[in-house]
Amino acid sequence: MKLQHASWPEVEAYLTRSTAILIPIGSTEQHGPTGFIGTDALCPEVLAEGIAERSGALVAPTLSIGMAQHHLGFPGSITLRPSTLIAVIQDVVNSLARHGFDRFFFLNGHGGNIASVTAAFSEIYAEASLGSAPSNRPALRCKLHNWWDVEGVKRLSRELFGADEGGHATCSEVSLTYHAFPEVGRRLAAASDQLIGERAPVGPIRDAADYRRRFPDGRIGSNPRRASAEAGAQLYEAAVTELTNVWRRFAEEE
Ligand code: NI
Repeated sequence: MKLQHASWPEVEAYLTRSTAILIPIGSTEQHGPTGFIGTDALCPEVLAEGIAERSGALVAPTLSIGMAQHHLGFPGSITLRPSTLIAVIQDVVNSLARHGFDRFFFLNGHGGNIASVTAAFSEIYAEASLGSAPSNRPALRCKLHNWWDVEGVKRLSRELFGADEGGHATCSEVSLTYHAFPEVGRRLAAASDQLIGERAPVGPIRDAADYRRRFPDGRIGSNPRRASAEAGAQLYEAAVTELTNVWRRFAEEE
């Protein structure tokens, strides 16, 4: 069930069954010349919906703007500063904790969020440890899980794309969006022949200007010409199957 499609009595009823909530978190940033700018938010969002269908999880609105300062050299990219993202996560968690939620599963679609989300968890735990948390706040558990970090997805990525998978605008994430949004995917993929040459270079990630110089079309190490909706369908199934188990273990753990 999506939180945004629920009424408050339905949320109240859910809380009698479970105090866990699934929160997709991503980014709005360029994904090479043929990838959706929303890739990193759309991937965890569609997977969270799949997990919810199978497990009954409640899914919070996607946090679709993340820490993407290094992508600002490309039109359309939006970033929160690390300190802003940390504050957003704290406020979201504390809002939901006020209602009795105490387990927060962030399904992540963007590597650039990891440091800030982890720091936010430390801030949240520090509020409890230092006695500055709201007095009615239950003991909280937070978890960050990257959607691609399950065995089935890693195995499929290796088999389908090998070294062309890359690190940004990866074949897997582009494929997953082409599967989830086939019409838009076909429009974007039509630019492949013109725009994507060989596998993109690899290197360090620093500020936006440095990034644009090192990775002129936005990709890192990938060749998403090999992305396809068919591959995306396989990746979707593998991801939802394993992530549903990861969610269930977290929601039910002692
Ligand atoms: Ni991405």
